[in-house]
Amino acid sequence: MTPSDPGATTACEAALVRRYAAVRAATVALAAPLSPEDCALQSMPDASPVRWHLAHTTWFFETFVLREWRPERPPFDPSHEYLFNSYYNGIGAQFPRPRRGMISRPGLEEVLRYREQVDADLAELLEGGALEGPRGEELAARVELGLQHEQQHQELVLTDLKHAFSENPLHPVYRPLERGAAGPAPAPTSFEPFEGGEAWIGAREGSGFHFDNEGPRHRVHLEAFELARRPVTCGEYLAFVEDDGYRRPELWLSDGWDAAREHGWQAPLYWSHQDDRWWQYTLGGLRPVDPAEPVTHVSYYEADAFARWADARLPGEAEWEHAASERPVEGHFARPGGEHPFPLHGEAHGLERLFGDVWEWTASDYAPYPRYRPAEGAIGEYNGKFMCNQRVLRGGSCATPEGHARATYRNFFYPHMRWQFSGIRLARWLR
Ligand SMILES: [Fe+2]
Repeated sequence: MTPSDPGATTACEAALVRRYAAVRAATVALAAPLSPEDCALQSMPDASPVRWHLAHTTWFFETFVLREWRPERPPFDPSHEYLFNSYYNGIGAQFPRPRRGMISRPGLEEVLRYREQVDADLAELLEGGALEGPRGEELAARVELGLQHEQQHQELVLTDLKHAFSENPLHPVYRPLERGAAGPAPAPTSFEPFEGGEAWIGAREGSGFHFDNEGPRHRVHLEAFELARRPVTCGEYLAFVEDDGYRRPELWLSDGWDAAREHGWQAPLYWSHQDDRWWQYTLGGLRPVDPAEPVTHVSYYEADAFARWADARLPGEAEWEHAASERPVEGHFARPGGEHPFPLHGEAHGLERLFGDVWEWTASDYAPYPRYRPAEGAIGEYNGKFMCNQRVLRGGSCATPEGHARATYRNFFYPHMRWQFSGIRLARWLR
């Protein structure tokens, strides 16, 4: 994009403006089936009200784009900085996360007006020549970061809403869900072998958008291993449950054993046992557990205990990425009516469902790659400061927006967390 090539500049601008509008509209569309009361719910400290997500993603653009590129523009409402700043200490103090459900004002209509105003100001900025200015490339990159951030929150809208709805004894339906294609029951999993040796992981510079935590690209050494050709199913997980998996200390990490006792875990989140049958709450309401579906809403501790019970282990993130790097990023990502994993069928041919359906826990600490440096300023708080005590998940889920995931993508959560669509893929050493 250079000023000497006005045609290309216009095309670039137009593409970014279109993409901005589409991603922002997708967030509002997620809230369309919801009432203002639904949008206000906060069911636990880790989850936020839908209305808060709608406002926070807007605050992100207002703070990290408009304030920097249009410093003369007054904020839409000065109180939003305190209410809708998530965790950027470099910007200022924040309203406590566990109490976001208390923010009944601004209401939904006001938050939607906030979105419209910021969207109009952003469009004016992008179409007004700022992309051709001296910081044009930086502006385009910052807007793209805001859009990728917005897509992360689109996933959180679904997972936070699911957690809130699961507390309602009426088992609310967010929208009716597709069941996936019918087919034969999944066969026992087979494993795909990989030779050991040197491998390269991490995002290549210049290869398109990636978060800073995905780089720099670097060498790793892998021992020979094999990776399950498909994720673990609910049927397999049920066998672990029925084999007293939750009551056998030899299967559990010490922290996991304590967490399971403390929270009374006896099955994945959203599972319940009634009338001699296992049920699960989904965004399509309550339904029987389908043994053919990939198991989801398990913590790292449960994934790890299951793997030990199955005489296997969880893959390292470098193994996962090495296996995924040459494969197309295709799978069951979020779409209306698809907000639940689809069942598996028959024999797996090659590595199935690496992308989409469920995030796959890895055994890897969420740690900086060699030579990693966060960006300067408050925006540098985006990823780097969370690199402590969390585990990496890979592959995206049925709640991840299409086009958002990639082989190098590193999601991260604390090992006890299970409200994301988190699942299990097994690995084993090869001798
Ligand atoms: Fe955020």
